[in-house]
This record gives sequence, structure tokens and C-alpha cells, in this order.
Amino acid sequence: MPSTVTRRDFVKSAGALASAVTFGAGAVELLQACGNQPAPAASGTLTGNLEIFSWWTGAGEKDGLAMLYKRYSDQYPQVKIVNAAVAGGAGSQAKAVLTTRMQANQPPDSFQVHAGQELIATWVKAGKMEPITSTWNELGLDKSIPKDLKDIVSSGGDVWSIPVNVHRGNALWFNLHTLGNASPPTTFDELTSSLNSFKAKGIQHPLALGSQGNWQIAMLLENGVLANGGPDYYNKLFKGQGSFTDSKVKDTLTQMATLLGYVNPDHTTLDWDAAAGLVAKGQAVYTIMGDWAKGYFTNLTPAMAPNQDFGVVAHPGTKGNYVTVVDTFGLPKNAPHRANAVAWLKVVASERGQEDFNPKKGSIPARTDVPASVFDPIAQSYMREFKTNRLVPSSAHGSATPPNFASAVNDIMGQFAQSKDVSGTAQALQQKAQQFLTS
Ligand code: GAL
Repeated sequence: MPSTVTRRDFVKSAGALASAVTFGAGAVELLQACGNQPAPAASGTLTGNLEIFSWWTGAGEKDGLAMLYKRYSDQYPQVKIVNAAVAGGAGSQAKAVLTTRMQANQPPDSFQVHAGQELIATWVKAGKMEPITSTWNELGLDKSIPKDLKDIVSSGGDVWSIPVNVHRGNALWFNLHTLGNASPPTTFDELTSSLNSFKAKGIQHPLALGSQGNWQIAMLLENGVLANGGPDYYNKLFKGQGSFTDSKVKDTLTQMATLLGYVNPDHTTLDWDAAAGLVAKGQAVYTIMGDWAKGYFTNLTPAMAPNQDFGVVAHPGTKGNYVTVVDTFGLPKNAPHRANAVAWLKVVASERGQEDFNPKKGSIPARTDVPASVFDPIAQSYMREFKTNRLVPSSAHGSATPPNFASAVNDIMGQFAQSKDVSGTAQALQQKAQQFLTS
């Protein structure tokens, strides 16, 4: 499939509060240690606070965020950054906190939001955002951010947020020391046979899962649907043009039930990073997760090296496809420190900002002009594959489907992990698709 069609499809388809940590003049030295770029001369005359809302509290994600804060503080040393990050992977806690604040007209200055439906079908539709089209044009971002990405943060002729990265959701990570001489699996059958062989060697739960919030099981569903049906099937299904009671979805659920037989029994009490930790410690061999897991591995102490200590293959059966998860920052209406927020968006959009942020975060940059040489070899191949693979927007991470559907899928998947009821689950999914997905 030519990549132009690939990209058009992609665009069409996308339709407990952490302690507030402040970064500002006083914290700059602390953060300076992370920097590998010479700091630009401080240029800002801005003062006051800048409150940034996200869910980046895990290893890798918090380190990437700190790099953006550092770059901001270098430029605007008199602004005090208030880090309003809410723990819980994929925003499982943060989104509810944000909703309460937005509804009470108490927005942060800027917040993390996935490109696509999570942004457009909610805050933009509700008239709670300011367009950032003029900032986009002032920065000439058409030259450096692909049109596909611009399109999924646009509606009604305006641009509504700045993409900072592209994550990949369809990845199987493994500890290379634990894997030993075994080959990483490329099909579902190879995966189960590998899991069996590690069980026989005494690793009781070779597939690590942290399913707190259930979105991690929703990722297993979307990756499995992609593996069994391919990208066109996937796109139709998540646009409400297919049926979740179809045999390919049921096959996926049956495979998921099998995989759940190999996971750590405490998975409902762990988040994605704790599951990655089981792989890091060699207590499990594999985990299926987005490439923020790479950010986790490389930011551990001691750090794990890509392709030496840990490795990755596409989720079995999905090679050639790139499940995209795009983090962006937007400008809510009535941002308390609007000028500081616009300056933040400019840092997020900048080549230097994305060059600092993405190697720590595990993602590839949204901009195309960030040098590949600053990235690890896995990110370098992902940068190449992003250009040639079929791009498939994630439903679990807000791009393909609206939040009401994604959140219903999470609940259904949580129940499925207990019941393993394939038919009932397929019907429940289809009922939510009919309710929330319009074709
Ligand atoms: C995703 C987000 C990633 C990463 C992950 C785990 O939704 O796009 O940047 O943070 O959640 O928290």
C-alpha cells in the first residue's frame, strides 16, 4: 500500500494528584544535569506560574517531561513551573481530574492530550480550547510536522494542539539476558510456544502484565485485532463499520484468554511500569506495551541498553503496521497564565524541545528535522518504519475512538480478564460500538 494511502487512512480514522513539584529558577541546576545541549541564553521576560498537567510520573516519561521543563526554565528563568502530573498510566486517573477541572472552569495552563478523538470530540467540541493556529503558523510548523499529524489535531479549519511525539503501541519487549538464545516470536503460536518453554524452565509467569486501569488489556485487544484482521479490518471496526461479534474479534479474545494464562496473578494491582520492571528483573521474559516501556528501561538505574539488555519485536502478527499514540499539548480557554502557556507550546513544538524530550520518553519526535543520531537504534528504526509502515491510530490511547468508547472498552476488558467469556465480551463490545461509534 503506498504510504500516501496509508497516511490518509490514518488521518481519517483518527478522528490521587501527584504532589505538585515546582521547577523554576531554584530547580534549574538540578535539571541541568540531564541536559546534553548548551543552554540558550535566557530570553524571557515572563514571570508568574506555569501549571502543566499530564500523567507522566513513571521512569522515562517523567524524565522526558523534566527535559522540557529544563528547556523552558532556561528560556524563562523567572517562571515557576508547577508540575501537576497525576499518576496512573494512560491517564487512567488524570483524565477524570482534568474533566473536573475543565468543567469547573479551572484549567491548568496547558495539558497533555492524545491527538485525535480524545482532543477533538471532547474539549474542542465543547468549546473549551483556544485554537493555536496562529502559533503554528508563526513557527512555520507546516515545514517540520507531517500533514498527517497536523490533520489529526485540526478541525473546523483550526489547529488545536501541538504534537510532541509519536509512540508505537504494538510492541513486544523482552529481556535479552532472560531470552538467551531463543528467537523472539513473530506469530501468536511462536509466542505461546516460547511462553511454554520458559514455564518449563521455571519462569512461572513469563508474560508480565500490569493491568491497573484496564487500558493495557485494551491494547492487547487492539493489537490482536490488527494481527488477526489487518489494518483495513482494524480501521473499519474502530470506526463502527464492522462488528465486534465477528469471528476475527472472537479469535482475538480467545488468544487473549490464552495469554492471560501466562501473566503474573497480581496484574490488576500493577501498572505498566511495574510490569516492565518484572521484565527488567528477569522475573518475566516478555511484556506487551507501547514504546514508553523503552523509556522506562533506558531510564532505570542502572540503565538497560537497547538491543543489549532488552529488545523488541512487533506485537506478533503486526509487523509492517505502526499503532500510533500521539501525545500533544493544547491551550485551554482561560488558561490562568496564557502568555506562559503559549511560550510552553513553543518549547514543546521546537526542534530542541523534541530532541531533548523524545530520547528520554521512548518515542520518536513529531518533527521530521530532529537528527536521528540523538536516538537509540530502536528509535532510529522506528523513525524509518513510521515513514513506510501502515499507520494505525490507537483506540486505547484516544486517537481512533472517542473517550466514552475507549473507557467502556477498558471496563469490558477488565471484566474479560476475570471471566474470559469470549461471546459475552464480543457482544458487550459491539453494544458499545453501536452506542458510541459513528461511521
Ligand atoms: C499513553 C501516553 C504515553 C505514556 C503512556 C503510559 O497514553 O500516550 O505517553 O505516558 O500512556 O503512561
